[in-house]
Amino acid sequence: TNHGSQGFRKVAHPSPMPDPERIELIRNPGFGRAFSDHMVTITWTADRGWHEMTIGPRGPLSLSPAAAVLHYAQEIFEGLKAYRTSSGEITLFRPDMNARRFALSAERLAMPALPDNLFIESVEALTSIDRAWIPDGEGSLYLRPFMIATEPFLGVRPAAEYLYVVIASAVGPYFSGGKSTITVWVSEDYTRAAKGGTGAAKCGGNYAASLTAQAVASAEGCDQVLFLDSAEHRWIEELGGMNIFLVFEDGSLQTPPIGGTILPGITRDSLIRLAREEGRVVREEPYAFDQLKADVASGRLREAFACGTAAVISPIGKLKTTDGPIVIGDGNAGEVSLALKRKLVGIQRGDVPDSFGWLHKI
Ligand code: PLP
Ligand code: COI
Repeated sequence: TNHGSQGFRKVAHPSPMPDPERIELIRNPGFGRAFSDHMVTITWTADRGWHEMTIGPRGPLSLSPAAAVLHYAQEIFEGLKAYRTSSGEITLFRPDMNARRFALSAERLAMPALPDNLFIESVEALTSIDRAWIPDGEGSLYLRPFMIATEPFLGVRPAAEYLYVVIASAVGPYFSGGKSTITVWVSEDYTRAAKGGTGAAKCGGNYAASLTAQAVASAEGCDQVLFLDSAEHRWIEELGGMNIFLVFEDGSLQTPPIGGTILPGITRDSLIRLAREEGRVVREEPYAFDQLKADVASGRLREAFACGTAAVISPIGKLKTTDGPIVIGDGNAGEVSLALKRKLVGIQRGDVPDSFGWLHKI
Protein backbone atom coordinates (compact mmCIF):
# COMPACT_ATOMS: atom_id res chain seq x y z
CA THR A 1 0.00 0.00 0.00
CA ASN A 2 1.31 3.35 -1.03
CA HIS A 3 0.50 6.07 1.48
CA GLY A 4 1.64 9.08 -0.36
CA SER A 5 5.20 9.47 0.73
CA GLN A 6 6.20 8.62 -2.83
CA GLY A 7 3.78 11.24 -4.13
CA PHE A 8 1.65 11.06 -7.22
CA ARG A 9 2.46 9.63 -10.59
CA LYS A 10 2.11 12.54 -12.95
CA VAL A 11 0.55 12.11 -16.39
CA ALA A 12 1.34 15.11 -18.58
CA HIS A 13 -1.64 17.04 -19.92
CA PRO A 14 -1.45 17.16 -23.72
CA SER A 15 -3.71 20.19 -24.08
CA PRO A 16 -4.52 22.24 -20.96
CA MET A 17 -6.99 25.04 -21.62
CA PRO A 18 -5.20 28.01 -23.19
CA ASP A 19 -4.73 31.01 -20.84
CA PRO A 20 -7.14 33.42 -22.56
CA GLU A 21 -9.92 30.82 -22.61
CA ARG A 22 -9.42 29.88 -18.94
CA ILE A 23 -9.23 33.50 -17.86
CA GLU A 24 -12.48 34.24 -19.68
CA LEU A 25 -14.15 31.13 -18.22
CA ILE A 26 -13.26 31.88 -14.61
CA ARG A 27 -14.05 35.59 -14.79
CA ASN A 28 -17.68 34.80 -14.05
CA PRO A 29 -17.67 31.08 -13.29
CA GLY A 30 -21.05 30.57 -11.63
CA PHE A 31 -21.04 27.43 -9.50
CA GLY A 32 -19.82 23.98 -10.48
CA ARG A 33 -19.49 24.33 -14.24
CA ALA A 34 -15.95 25.58 -14.88
CA PHE A 35 -13.82 22.48 -14.31
CA SER A 36 -10.04 22.69 -14.09
CA ASP A 37 -7.55 20.84 -16.28
CA HIS A 38 -6.51 18.02 -13.94
CA MET A 39 -7.83 15.37 -11.61
CA VAL A 40 -6.43 13.01 -9.00
CA THR A 41 -7.33 9.33 -8.94
CA ILE A 42 -6.41 6.66 -6.42
CA THR A 43 -7.55 3.06 -6.61
CA TRP A 44 -8.44 0.73 -3.74
CA THR A 45 -8.65 -3.03 -3.95
CA ALA A 46 -9.10 -5.47 -1.11
CA ASP A 47 -5.74 -7.11 -1.79
CA ARG A 48 -3.61 -4.00 -2.45
CA GLY A 49 -5.29 -1.25 -0.42
CA TRP A 50 -4.79 2.29 -1.81
CA HIS A 51 -2.52 2.36 -4.83
CA GLU A 52 -2.01 3.98 -8.27
CA MET A 53 -1.98 7.55 -6.99
CA THR A 54 -2.19 9.54 -10.18
CA ILE A 55 -2.56 13.18 -11.13
CA GLY A 56 -3.27 13.80 -14.78
CA PRO A 57 -5.70 15.30 -17.30
CA ARG A 58 -9.33 15.46 -16.16
CA GLY A 59 -11.36 13.18 -18.37
CA PRO A 60 -14.11 10.59 -18.49
CA LEU A 61 -13.95 7.61 -16.15
CA SER A 62 -14.28 4.13 -17.54
CA LEU A 63 -16.61 1.96 -15.47
CA SER A 64 -18.28 -1.39 -15.80
CA PRO A 65 -22.06 -0.96 -16.15
CA ALA A 66 -22.18 -3.42 -13.26
CA ALA A 67 -20.09 -1.13 -11.01
CA ALA A 68 -21.75 -1.25 -7.60
CA VAL A 69 -22.06 2.54 -7.32
CA LEU A 70 -24.43 2.60 -10.30
CA HIS A 71 -26.83 0.21 -8.58
CA TYR A 72 -26.62 0.64 -4.84
CA ALA A 73 -25.19 4.19 -4.58
CA GLN A 74 -22.08 3.43 -2.59
CA GLU A 75 -20.68 6.93 -3.04
CA ILE A 76 -19.39 9.68 -0.74
CA PHE A 77 -17.99 13.13 -1.40
CA GLU A 78 -16.53 16.26 0.13
CA GLY A 79 -16.44 19.95 -0.72
CA LEU A 80 -13.77 22.46 0.23
CA LYS A 81 -12.31 25.60 -1.27
CA ALA A 82 -8.85 26.87 -2.17
CA TYR A 83 -8.47 30.64 -1.86
CA ARG A 84 -5.96 33.13 -3.11
CA THR A 85 -5.27 35.50 -0.23
CA SER A 86 -4.74 39.23 -0.65
CA SER A 87 -0.97 38.66 -0.37
CA GLY A 88 -1.07 36.07 -3.15
CA GLU A 89 -0.75 32.95 -1.01
CA ILE A 90 -2.91 29.91 -1.71
CA THR A 91 -4.73 28.38 1.22
CA LEU A 92 -7.21 25.67 2.04
CA PHE A 93 -9.66 26.14 4.92
CA ARG A 94 -9.54 23.39 7.57
CA PRO A 95 -8.93 20.51 5.11
CA ASP A 96 -8.20 18.24 8.10
CA MET A 97 -11.90 18.50 8.97
CA ASN A 98 -12.93 17.42 5.48
CA ALA A 99 -10.50 14.51 5.68
CA ARG A 100 -12.04 13.39 9.00
CA ARG A 101 -15.59 13.72 7.75
CA PHE A 102 -14.72 11.82 4.57
CA ALA A 103 -13.40 8.96 6.70
CA LEU A 104 -16.60 8.98 8.81
CA SER A 105 -18.76 9.02 5.67
CA ALA A 106 -16.72 6.08 4.34
CA GLU A 107 -17.34 4.17 7.54
CA ARG A 108 -21.08 4.78 7.34
CA LEU A 109 -21.24 3.63 3.72
CA ALA A 110 -19.07 0.55 4.42
CA MET A 111 -16.25 1.90 2.27
CA PRO A 112 -12.51 1.79 2.99
CA ALA A 113 -11.13 4.78 4.90
CA LEU A 114 -8.74 6.96 2.93
CA PRO A 115 -5.99 7.98 5.37
CA ASP A 116 -6.37 11.67 6.32
CA ASN A 117 -2.85 12.50 5.09
CA LEU A 118 -3.62 11.03 1.68
CA PHE A 119 -6.84 13.06 1.46
CA ILE A 120 -4.92 16.22 2.29
CA GLU A 121 -2.06 15.43 -0.10
CA SER A 122 -4.56 14.80 -2.88
CA VAL A 123 -6.31 18.16 -2.50
CA GLU A 124 -2.96 19.92 -2.11
CA ALA A 125 -1.64 18.29 -5.28
CA LEU A 126 -4.67 19.26 -7.37
CA THR A 127 -4.78 22.80 -5.99
CA SER A 128 -1.12 23.22 -6.70
CA ILE A 129 -1.18 21.98 -10.29
CA ASP A 130 -4.38 23.91 -11.11
CA ARG A 131 -3.53 27.06 -9.12
CA ALA A 132 -4.11 29.20 -12.25
CA TRP A 133 -7.78 28.16 -11.98
CA ILE A 134 -8.30 30.00 -8.68
CA PRO A 135 -10.27 33.10 -9.67
CA ASP A 136 -9.18 36.50 -8.42
CA GLY A 137 -11.39 38.55 -6.17
CA GLU A 138 -14.30 36.81 -4.51
CA GLY A 139 -14.11 33.52 -6.34
CA SER A 140 -12.40 30.36 -5.23
CA LEU A 141 -11.48 26.91 -6.46
CA TYR A 142 -14.04 24.39 -5.19
CA LEU A 143 -12.43 20.99 -4.66
CA ARG A 144 -14.64 17.96 -4.94
CA PRO A 145 -13.08 14.74 -3.62
CA PHE A 146 -15.32 11.69 -3.98
CA MET A 147 -15.19 7.92 -3.80
CA ILE A 148 -17.23 5.34 -5.73
CA ALA A 149 -17.60 1.57 -5.55
CA THR A 150 -16.28 0.25 -8.87
CA GLU A 151 -16.47 -3.49 -8.37
CA PRO A 152 -18.68 -5.11 -11.06
CA PHE A 153 -21.03 -7.15 -8.88
CA LEU A 154 -24.79 -7.10 -8.39
CA GLY A 155 -24.92 -8.79 -5.01
CA VAL A 156 -25.75 -6.40 -2.21
CA ARG A 157 -22.68 -6.15 0.01
CA PRO A 158 -19.79 -3.70 0.40
CA ALA A 159 -17.77 -3.65 -2.83
CA ALA A 160 -14.20 -4.90 -2.99
CA GLU A 161 -12.94 -2.16 -5.38
CA TYR A 162 -13.15 1.61 -5.15
CA LEU A 163 -11.98 4.68 -6.98
CA TYR A 164 -11.17 7.95 -5.20
CA VAL A 165 -11.17 11.03 -7.41
CA VAL A 166 -10.61 14.75 -6.86
CA ILE A 167 -11.82 17.29 -9.40
CA ALA A 168 -11.88 21.08 -9.06
CA SER A 169 -14.13 23.82 -10.29
CA ALA A 170 -13.62 27.58 -10.31
CA VAL A 171 -16.62 29.03 -8.49
CA GLY A 172 -18.34 32.25 -7.62
CA PRO A 173 -21.44 32.49 -5.40
CA TYR A 174 -23.61 29.36 -5.08
CA PHE A 175 -26.83 31.33 -5.50
CA SER A 176 -26.90 32.91 -8.93
CA GLY A 177 -26.13 36.58 -9.04
CA GLY A 178 -24.81 36.43 -5.46
CA LYS A 179 -28.21 37.57 -4.16
CA SER A 180 -28.16 39.25 -0.76
CA THR A 181 -30.89 37.06 0.78
CA ILE A 182 -32.38 33.71 -0.07
CA THR A 183 -35.91 32.36 0.26
CA VAL A 184 -36.45 28.95 1.81
CA TRP A 185 -39.35 26.54 1.34
CA VAL A 186 -40.32 24.58 4.45
CA SER A 187 -41.03 21.03 3.33
CA GLU A 188 -44.20 19.48 4.71
CA ASP A 189 -44.13 16.33 2.64
CA TYR A 190 -40.52 15.28 2.69
CA THR A 191 -37.83 14.68 5.25
CA ARG A 192 -34.12 14.33 4.66
CA ALA A 193 -32.85 11.85 7.21
CA ALA A 194 -34.00 9.69 10.09
CA LYS A 195 -32.17 8.54 13.22
CA GLY A 196 -29.95 5.63 12.31
CA GLY A 197 -29.90 6.65 8.65
CA THR A 198 -27.20 8.36 6.61
CA GLY A 199 -28.02 12.00 7.39
CA ALA A 200 -24.63 12.70 8.98
CA ALA A 201 -22.71 11.23 6.05
CA LYS A 202 -21.92 13.19 2.92
CA CYS A 203 -23.21 10.58 0.48
CA GLY A 204 -24.79 11.21 -2.89
CA GLY A 205 -27.94 9.35 -1.88
CA ASN A 206 -28.86 12.07 0.61
CA TYR A 207 -28.83 14.63 -2.18
CA ALA A 208 -30.73 12.42 -4.62
CA ALA A 209 -33.38 12.05 -1.92
CA SER A 210 -33.59 15.82 -1.46
CA LEU A 211 -34.19 16.66 -5.12
CA THR A 212 -37.96 16.23 -5.19
CA ALA A 213 -38.26 18.54 -2.21
CA GLN A 214 -35.83 20.96 -3.84
CA ALA A 215 -37.89 20.87 -7.03
CA VAL A 216 -41.01 21.77 -5.01
CA ALA A 217 -39.04 24.62 -3.43
CA SER A 218 -38.00 25.90 -6.86
CA ALA A 219 -41.56 25.66 -8.14
CA GLU A 220 -42.59 27.77 -5.13
CA GLY A 221 -40.00 30.36 -6.12
CA CYS A 222 -37.57 29.41 -3.35
CA ASP A 223 -33.81 28.91 -3.44
CA GLN A 224 -33.55 26.05 -0.95
CA VAL A 225 -35.62 23.62 1.04
CA LEU A 226 -35.69 23.44 4.85
CA PHE A 227 -36.22 19.98 6.27
CA LEU A 228 -37.90 19.25 9.59
CA ASP A 229 -37.14 16.10 11.58
CA SER A 230 -38.60 12.83 10.35
CA ALA A 231 -40.00 11.56 13.68
CA GLU A 232 -42.24 14.46 14.72
CA HIS A 233 -41.99 16.80 11.76
CA ARG A 234 -41.56 19.51 14.31
CA TRP A 235 -37.86 20.34 14.71
CA ILE A 236 -35.78 22.36 12.30
CA GLU A 237 -32.90 20.32 10.88
CA GLU A 238 -31.08 21.82 7.91
CA LEU A 239 -31.41 22.82 4.29
CA GLY A 240 -30.79 20.52 1.33
CA GLY A 241 -27.14 21.55 1.12
CA MET A 242 -26.39 23.78 4.11
CA ASN A 243 -26.80 24.17 7.86
CA ILE A 244 -29.03 26.82 9.46
CA PHE A 245 -28.49 29.38 12.23
CA LEU A 246 -30.98 31.67 13.95
CA VAL A 247 -30.05 34.99 15.54
CA PHE A 248 -32.03 36.46 18.42
CA GLU A 249 -32.77 39.89 19.78
CA ASP A 250 -30.25 39.45 22.62
CA GLY A 251 -27.46 38.70 20.11
CA SER A 252 -27.44 34.97 20.86
CA LEU A 253 -27.39 32.30 18.16
CA GLN A 254 -28.99 28.90 17.91
CA THR A 255 -28.40 26.01 15.54
CA PRO A 256 -29.74 22.44 15.60
CA PRO A 257 -27.47 19.98 17.39
CA ILE A 258 -25.37 17.34 15.64
CA GLY A 259 -27.15 14.07 16.31
CA GLY A 260 -26.94 11.81 13.28
CA THR A 261 -29.58 13.40 11.07
CA ILE A 262 -27.77 16.56 9.94
CA LEU A 263 -24.43 17.02 8.25
CA PRO A 264 -21.82 18.25 10.75
CA GLY A 265 -20.82 21.31 8.73
CA ILE A 266 -17.31 22.70 8.96
CA THR A 267 -18.67 26.19 8.37
CA ARG A 268 -21.17 25.54 11.18
CA ASP A 269 -18.39 24.50 13.54
CA SER A 270 -16.24 27.50 12.54
CA LEU A 271 -19.09 29.98 13.08
CA ILE A 272 -19.92 28.53 16.50
CA ARG A 273 -16.28 29.09 17.52
CA LEU A 274 -16.08 32.57 16.02
CA ALA A 275 -19.33 33.70 17.62
CA ARG A 276 -18.35 32.32 21.03
CA GLU A 277 -14.94 34.00 20.73
CA GLU A 278 -16.84 37.28 20.26
CA GLY A 279 -18.68 36.59 23.50
CA ARG A 280 -21.95 35.55 21.95
CA VAL A 281 -24.06 32.78 23.41
CA VAL A 282 -24.47 29.95 20.89
CA ARG A 283 -26.99 27.21 21.67
CA GLU A 284 -26.70 23.88 19.86
CA GLU A 285 -30.23 22.89 20.76
CA PRO A 286 -33.36 21.70 18.96
CA TYR A 287 -35.62 24.50 17.75
CA ALA A 288 -39.20 23.82 16.79
CA PHE A 289 -40.70 25.33 13.66
CA ASP A 290 -43.69 26.49 15.75
CA GLN A 291 -41.24 28.27 18.04
CA LEU A 292 -39.76 30.00 15.01
CA LYS A 293 -43.20 31.28 14.03
CA ALA A 294 -43.81 32.53 17.58
CA ASP A 295 -40.37 34.14 17.79
CA VAL A 296 -40.83 35.89 14.45
CA ALA A 297 -44.24 37.16 15.58
CA SER A 298 -42.87 38.46 18.88
CA GLY A 299 -39.79 40.00 17.26
CA ARG A 300 -37.44 37.85 19.33
CA LEU A 301 -36.04 36.14 16.22
CA ARG A 302 -34.16 38.75 14.22
CA GLU A 303 -32.09 36.92 11.62
CA ALA A 304 -31.59 33.53 10.03
CA PHE A 305 -28.87 32.34 7.72
CA ALA A 306 -27.76 29.26 5.82
CA CYS A 307 -24.10 28.29 5.90
CA GLY A 308 -21.79 25.88 4.15
CA THR A 309 -18.71 25.77 1.98
CA ALA A 310 -20.66 26.52 -1.17
CA ALA A 311 -23.18 28.88 0.46
CA VAL A 312 -20.64 30.63 2.76
CA ILE A 313 -23.20 32.60 4.81
CA SER A 314 -26.43 33.21 2.93
CA PRO A 315 -28.89 35.31 4.91
CA ILE A 316 -32.48 34.03 4.77
CA GLY A 317 -34.95 36.83 4.08
CA LYS A 318 -38.08 34.76 3.99
CA LEU A 319 -39.42 31.29 4.67
CA LYS A 320 -42.42 30.02 2.72
CA THR A 321 -44.91 27.39 3.78
CA THR A 322 -48.24 26.26 2.41
CA ASP A 323 -49.74 28.77 4.91
CA GLY A 324 -47.85 31.64 3.32
CA PRO A 325 -44.61 33.55 3.80
CA ILE A 326 -42.77 34.24 7.06
CA VAL A 327 -40.52 37.27 6.77
CA ILE A 328 -37.42 37.17 8.96
CA GLY A 329 -36.59 40.56 10.51
CA ASP A 330 -37.17 43.18 7.85
CA GLY A 331 -36.53 40.65 5.09
CA ASN A 332 -33.01 41.92 4.44
CA ALA A 333 -29.63 40.50 5.39
CA GLY A 334 -29.13 40.90 9.14
CA GLU A 335 -26.24 42.70 10.80
CA VAL A 336 -24.99 39.76 12.83
CA SER A 337 -25.12 37.45 9.81
CA LEU A 338 -23.15 39.94 7.72
CA ALA A 339 -20.57 40.59 10.45
CA LEU A 340 -19.96 36.85 10.88
CA LYS A 341 -19.67 36.48 7.13
CA ARG A 342 -17.10 39.30 6.94
CA LYS A 343 -15.07 37.67 9.67
CA LEU A 344 -15.17 34.15 8.20
CA VAL A 345 -14.40 35.32 4.66
CA GLY A 346 -11.74 37.66 6.06
CA ILE A 347 -9.97 34.74 7.72
CA GLN A 348 -10.26 32.60 4.58
CA ARG A 349 -8.79 35.42 2.48
CA GLY A 350 -6.02 36.25 4.91
CA ASP A 351 -7.43 39.68 5.76
CA VAL A 352 -8.40 38.84 9.36
CA PRO A 353 -5.94 37.17 11.76
CA ASP A 354 -6.34 33.39 11.72
CA SER A 355 -6.37 33.00 15.49
CA PHE A 356 -7.65 29.41 15.36
CA GLY A 357 -4.95 28.24 12.93
CA TRP A 358 -7.49 27.20 10.31
CA LEU A 359 -5.59 28.12 7.16
CA HIS A 360 -3.56 25.42 5.44
CA LYS A 361 -1.01 27.00 3.10
CA ILE A 362 -0.15 25.26 -0.15
N1 PLP B 1 -25.45 20.39 5.23
C1 PLP B 1 -25.47 19.80 4.03
C2 PLP B 1 -26.59 18.87 3.72
C3 PLP B 1 -24.45 20.05 3.11
O1 PLP B 1 -24.46 19.47 1.90
C4 PLP B 1 -23.41 20.95 3.45
C5 PLP B 1 -22.34 21.26 2.49
O2 PLP B 1 -21.28 20.72 2.51
C6 PLP B 1 -23.43 21.52 4.73
C7 PLP B 1 -24.48 21.23 5.58
C8 PLP B 1 -22.34 22.44 5.17
O3 PLP B 1 -21.15 21.77 5.40
P1 PLP B 1 -19.76 22.50 5.27
O4 PLP B 1 -19.85 23.75 6.07
O5 PLP B 1 -18.78 21.56 5.83
O6 PLP B 1 -19.55 22.77 3.83
C1 COI C 1 -20.86 22.24 -0.13
O1 COI C 1 -21.18 23.30 0.38
O2 COI C 1 -19.67 21.91 -0.27
C2 COI C 1 -21.85 21.27 -0.61
O3 COI C 1 -21.52 20.16 -0.83
C3 COI C 1 -23.23 21.71 -0.77
C4 COI C 1 -23.77 21.62 -2.16
C5 COI C 1 -25.06 22.38 -2.13
C6 COI C 1 -22.87 22.13 -3.23
